[in-house]
Amino acid sequence: MKRIRLMLALLVVTLGCCLPAQVPPVDPHRDAFVSDLLGRMTVEERIGQLNLLSVGFDVTGPQLSKDADTKVRRGWVGGVFNTFTPVAVRKLQMLAVKESRLGIPLLFGYDVVHGHKTIFPMPLGLSCTWNLDAIERSARIAAVEASADGLHWTFSPMVDIARDPRWGRIAEGAGEDPYLGALIARAMVRGYQGSDLARSNALMACVKHFALYGAAEAGRDYNTVDMSRRQMYEYFLPPYRAALEAGVGSVMSSFNEIDGVPATANRWLLTDLLRTQWDFQGFVVTDYTAINEMSEHGMGDLRKDAELALKAGVDMDMVGEAYLKHLPELAAHGDISESQINQACRRILEAKYNLGLYADPYRGCSEERARSEILTPKNRKAAREIAAQSFVLLKNDRQILPLKKSGIIALVGPLVADQQNLLGSWRAAGDWQQAVSVQAGISNVVGAAVTVLYAKGANLVDDPALRETLQGFGAEIPVDRRSPREMVAEAVAAATRADVVVAVLGESSAMSGEAASRSEIGLPQCQKELLQALVETGKPLVLVLMNGRPLTLTWEAEHCDAILETWFGGTEAGNAVADVLFGDCNPSGKLTATFPRTVGQIPIYYNHKNTGRPYKGDPKFKYVSRYLDMPNDPLYAFGYGLSYTTFSYGDVKLSQTALVGDETLVASVALTNAGMRAGEETVQLYLSQPVASVTRSVEDLRGFQKVRLQPGETKEVTFRITPEDLKFYNSKLDYDWEPGEFVIRIGRSSSQVKSATVHWSQKEVMLQAR
Ligand code: NOJ
Repeated sequence: MKRIRLMLALLVVTLGCCLPAQVPPVDPHRDAFVSDLLGRMTVEERIGQLNLLSVGFDVTGPQLSKDADTKVRRGWVGGVFNTFTPVAVRKLQMLAVKESRLGIPLLFGYDVVHGHKTIFPMPLGLSCTWNLDAIERSARIAAVEASADGLHWTFSPMVDIARDPRWGRIAEGAGEDPYLGALIARAMVRGYQGSDLARSNALMACVKHFALYGAAEAGRDYNTVDMSRRQMYEYFLPPYRAALEAGVGSVMSSFNEIDGVPATANRWLLTDLLRTQWDFQGFVVTDYTAINEMSEHGMGDLRKDAELALKAGVDMDMVGEAYLKHLPELAAHGDISESQINQACRRILEAKYNLGLYADPYRGCSEERARSEILTPKNRKAAREIAAQSFVLLKNDRQILPLKKSGIIALVGPLVADQQNLLGSWRAAGDWQQAVSVQAGISNVVGAAVTVLYAKGANLVDDPALRETLQGFGAEIPVDRRSPREMVAEAVAAATRADVVVAVLGESSAMSGEAASRSEIGLPQCQKELLQALVETGKPLVLVLMNGRPLTLTWEAEHCDAILETWFGGTEAGNAVADVLFGDCNPSGKLTATFPRTVGQIPIYYNHKNTGRPYKGDPKFKYVSRYLDMPNDPLYAFGYGLSYTTFSYGDVKLSQTALVGDETLVASVALTNAGMRAGEETVQLYLSQPVASVTRSVEDLRGFQKVRLQPGETKEVTFRITPEDLKFYNSKLDYDWEPGEFVIRIGRSSSQVKSATVHWSQKEVMLQAR
């Protein structure tokens, strides 16, 4: 080990620089170093580097790793996850460095998904900020905290496009749109990895779950996926690719199958696409026991599956130890080659080099750093600001919000005093006792100026079987033993005495996230009954929602005066809710996943196709694509979200209406703050092409701008559109644009736009015509 460090120190000095986060494909010094190390390893030790164990504080899958210490000493482990804190990391790292033959340091990973100890809003909420700087900042803070706690690697960003809110993991991604999803993927990778992976406060990112995991049939987690290549390339793959372009160090294979072959055994996916077409240089890790699960998929026994996975392009085996168990034998029988093992091992060793682990296996990990850099007031302030930006105001009749900082408020609901659920399903190292409840937040913001009457009103769920399942999945669901009727009566009494009712309702955090699909996505029945009773009091009623997915809210939208969607807002959720309720912050979030009216409309997403028989609003026509019992359109569309002020949009102005070749079109609208408060609007640009060689979506997001305006202020918001924005995948999977008519739509959401049309022709066509 000493020799390794000396060699590395020399190299760093000679180079006089650090590695950039965008890891160079070829680095002669790294290659020489890794080749030397590889040359000194036994086959067993090389296979050991491909083994990732779950050791420590958290359980994030169905089985646990055993005998970690012994395996580390023998050199049978390349990395571990679920171990953090300087003390725990140092202890285990010392075992690897001091007691294994070659002293190769371990890689320490963890699911730092929306913050490490300062928890930010759950990812779907983060995406509703449409604020890439804020998202990058949240990832940077997460990286600083996690690295101070001894970590090197996060299993994030999760960039799976999801069009089905029954799927609980919709909470973990950026919603349904590939354009926005790609920008967010980039921002998160940049935030985690920083400008230089070797810096002690950088975290290597892992883009997941490659690929298409969000398209599980019927929204049931781990279920089968089947889709056309064109659909993949156009709508589902762009965010993974964007993460790669941002220099992501690792990729996690997904649990689902693709084209009939599990992703983890899919050579087309992990080699042809990822390596050959996209030139990925980092390493591929499986998801939790994904190789072992291939036998349930129907791919044969574990020996066969280990062979398939290695040959497909999987470098590291998470928890399942299929590689550890079977690669030696497979190599001995010539079923796999030594060079296949070497290649995978080289990629893991390179990642450790990129992270600077050979130079300092304990990089950045000190108790002093952990004390001074984790959960700082500054980090909490950022979490509060970002949480407020993630909230989406769905309804605000008669400007009932913001509330006055005076009078009497009935604060009702099972999530009012809750600190545990608001951290969301990937709370990871987040400490719920540090989290601010809505009740505490309101008291922090308005103090004694407002009289607050609190009543729980209902339990989160009443169904004992569901409650038991959720508790078993890690959510603490405190149960009030009073009868539902008694609890509702108390809430109604409080409401009757109040000027306004604020009901804080929603899901428990374990109702979304992994293995948390739901077939009905409304509020749990007991909470619905509470809400009905509150509506009957006739008092002005504000519904504050906490939940991990779009919900069906048709009844609520009709009967509540205001609805504020706050997702699971993280450590500072309660303060942020109070900031928005009382108008210290003007909400600006916009939805990134469609809210259906009913479950029967799912999958429902804004960038759908027109079909040959589109419904045009006249119910007298029979043979059209529609439901008899429900409108086609959603309750709340992609991009939707209100503000305490109102924004008015002028008509779309275009620099020209006929363009040729690679000219640039300038499209603009005048945006006016027509209300009484300063506010921020996300102006969205959508394009559509009514005629092309393949059918196109009715519209695709191609740009957006966040604009802050004072009351009465007007700004010209301008977008520059080039042929790059017109491109799509044709039936040969070429990514190009085709001449024709384009509709430019600019507006406040995908369903509220102003539009104008241009004709864009290719140069050759114009010349020929002349
Ligand atoms: C399984 C999940 O699918 C994945 O997202 C996570 O990173 C791993 N478990 C590790 O906890």
